[in-house]
Amino acid sequence: MRALHRCCGVVVGKIRDTGLLQDELLIFEQGGKGRKGYSLPRWDVEEVEVQNFLPPGLLRKELKGFPQLSEVDVVRHFTRLSQWNYGVDSGLYPLGSCTMKYNPKVNEEIARMGGFSKIHPCTPEELSQGILKLMFELQGFLAEITGMDHVTLQPAAGAHGELTGMMMVRACLQARGEKRKKVLVPDTAHGTNCSTSSIASYQMIEIKSNENGVIPPEKVNELMDEEVAAIMVTNPNTLGLFEEHLDKIAEIVHGKGGFVYCDGANLNALMGMVKLGDLGVDVVHINLHKTFSTPHGGGGPGAGPVAVKKELSPYLPIPVIEKQGDSYRLNDDQPHSIGKVKTFYGNFGVLIKAYAYILSMGAEGLKKASEMAVLNANYLMKRLKGHYHLPYDRPCMHECVFTDRIQERYHVSTLDIAKRLIDYGFHPPTIYFPLVVKGALMMEPTETESKESIDRFIETMIIVAEEAEEDPDLLRQAPQKVKVRRLDEVLAARKPKLKWTAPSPRRGEGQGEGETPNVKSQIPNNDQLSNSKSEN
Ligand SMILES: Cc1ncc(COP(=O)(O)O)c(C=O)c1O
Repeated sequence: MRALHRCCGVVVGKIRDTGLLQDELLIFEQGGKGRKGYSLPRWDVEEVEVQNFLPPGLLRKELKGFPQLSEVDVVRHFTRLSQWNYGVDSGLYPLGSCTMKYNPKVNEEIARMGGFSKIHPCTPEELSQGILKLMFELQGFLAEITGMDHVTLQPAAGAHGELTGMMMVRACLQARGEKRKKVLVPDTAHGTNCSTSSIASYQMIEIKSNENGVIPPEKVNELMDEEVAAIMVTNPNTLGLFEEHLDKIAEIVHGKGGFVYCDGANLNALMGMVKLGDLGVDVVHINLHKTFSTPHGGGGPGAGPVAVKKELSPYLPIPVIEKQGDSYRLNDDQPHSIGKVKTFYGNFGVLIKAYAYILSMGAEGLKKASEMAVLNANYLMKRLKGHYHLPYDRPCMHECVFTDRIQERYHVSTLDIAKRLIDYGFHPPTIYFPLVVKGALMMEPTETESKESIDRFIETMIIVAEEAEEDPDLLRQAPQKVKVRRLDEVLAARKPKLKWTAPSPRRGEGQGEGETPNVKSQIPNNDQLSNSKSEN
């Protein structure tokens, strides 16, 4: 590696043999005085001094440290950043509990059509009929898929849907004159279920799953009493297993006047195969940003519609969309409603994509998607069994959970396995979740991966398992072939550097104050790579 700091008086950064990864200065550190990325026509009006119009407090002498760049500097910088990123459009993304499947681009196009994207949310009802129709019909589709009576599209995310659902449960119990205090939550429920029950002011009572990874009805029977408002069941649960006793559990809970809340965020496993309403579920939320054409975890908006049975319908958030003859209206006159949970129509763009996805797939297509998601996960599970420890050795739904128990013998952890996968060009699976499984590796291949793509991932996982035995340091030092090695993830999460401050002296001339220690470039050169291998 040659550290070239200056060339003809210009800072060029370090020059290293990193191939297409290309080490590059931050955009704030690039450019040169007077360089411009625009070309505007000459003024055709007289130039005036801005200070004649604005108060001094609003004037800034200079933008400290603001870079001056050409168009090509900017385009290359952002193109490079996008290439360093990894997404579902780059490759298999087996992040369990996230359904990171490929989403058809045509649905993005539809959501961006002017008639949808440019309409003002305050447009009167008579002029928003198309939008209201879309939402009304989407509600109907989701009610049909889940086997429920009514749906609200307002909640912005899964956790938001949970809270909305539990607020409706509480409102209904209050209307009945009942002050119940507890909510039952199994240890295989998603973490948000625990938070929701507590934010909705309930005391959470944990139910231990049995040796098959599901809720034992006898346990529910033991814990269920007139103080329990509801049970919150994630189905399929966070072990990727179907809660096979849900109908029996619902009977027990209903017998004591409680409600069954189902976390239906993993609906990708169930569409067209089982209707949760038929199993006795009273209220369920769906993550549109997993199953219905919006990626989960993309940092963008989501939507967590909630579907309810008739008894909870009076408590739905307002406004409720109604159809009268051939027209649609928003009805705010719902005296028992829990109120509004999101401004205007919720995250409407996500709703459009879900609507387009459901229409284009049709009932048979949705069923096929779920069948393929389950088949792919079982194929993956079957082929990796023996290479990795499988804590619940039984057919899974859309995802499967392994552990690092075999690799522990070689002092290799789940984290090391995940990091080594990055060297092979894969996004790692979800790790250390669910919490009921020690050292969990949770994989969800989804229905949109081809057999070849899943086979490549499986072969890579097998190679990594062999490496753990033969050359464990390779895993412990992974990832090596990336721009950024192991980050201090706690520091990055707890103290994120969200603001750039001008380094002094500039980067390339020593460690500057503005340099972000937890994202410092750490690409090894070839010598370092071969040293780390030969040391083992
Ligand atoms: C089973 C389950 N429930 C709830 C949620 C929460 O959804 P959100 O992240 O949209 O709040 C998730 C998210 O992954 C989930 O997998």
